[in-house]
Amino acid sequence: MRRVLDGGFELDDERSRIDLDAITAFLTESYWAEGRSREEQSRLNDESARLVGLYRGTEQVGFARVSYWETRNVAFLNDVYVLDEHRGHGLGVELVRETVDGGPHADALWLLRTNDMHRLYAKLGFGLPDEKWMVRGRGVSAAAPSHP
Ligand SMILES: CC(C)(COP(=O)(O)OP(=O)(O)OC[C@H]1O[C@@H](n2cnc3c(N)ncnc32)[C@H](O)[C@@H]1OP(=O)(O)O)[C@@H](O)C(=O)NCCC(=O)NCCS
Repeated sequence: MRRVLDGGFELDDERSRIDLDAITAFLTESYWAEGRSREEQSRLNDESARLVGLYRGTEQVGFARVSYWETRNVAFLNDVYVLDEHRGHGLGVELVRETVDGGPHADALWLLRTNDMHRLYAKLGFGLPDEKWMVRGRGVSAAAPSHP
């Protein structure tokens, strides 16, 4: 897949095109992957089902990574970013749209975590789970379900 966007930008899921140094430089400073090393990022990339890069010419200006659990058709969206100087022009929406809808996981159940970008993901069909879902782990406090 290779998709040309306005303004000379391009989306591409070709793994060999990913600039590991560039994505590590951003992600290691992010709130969710603070301190992540180049080696860790490389391993995560290798273990991921799909990597989508946003490029301007040869420069990597954005990225998204998909983890996929085939036996349950569940996909997790990770490591989404667009470089600061290119934000606010719809590139983030197109990056996520391509990652979610453009690849082989379009019909999966998609999961993600975000501190503050709920509106972005809502544009692409993400919503809050219904009462059938329960989660356990970091940031989750155990509570009796209100719908037993
Ligand atoms: C999230 C990110 C990829 C969005 O990229 P972008 O190119 O600016 O996004 P778009 O221009 O396509 O904006 C799409 C929508 O995202 C939401 N959005 C964008 N910036 C936002 C912000 N600072 N706060 C809350 N919502 C925001 C808005 O709903 C926006 O649509 P609107 O302008 O019509 O309201 C980018 O801001 C980024 O890389 N942020 C830092 C890393 C990050 O937080 N990644 C997401 C982790 S879950």
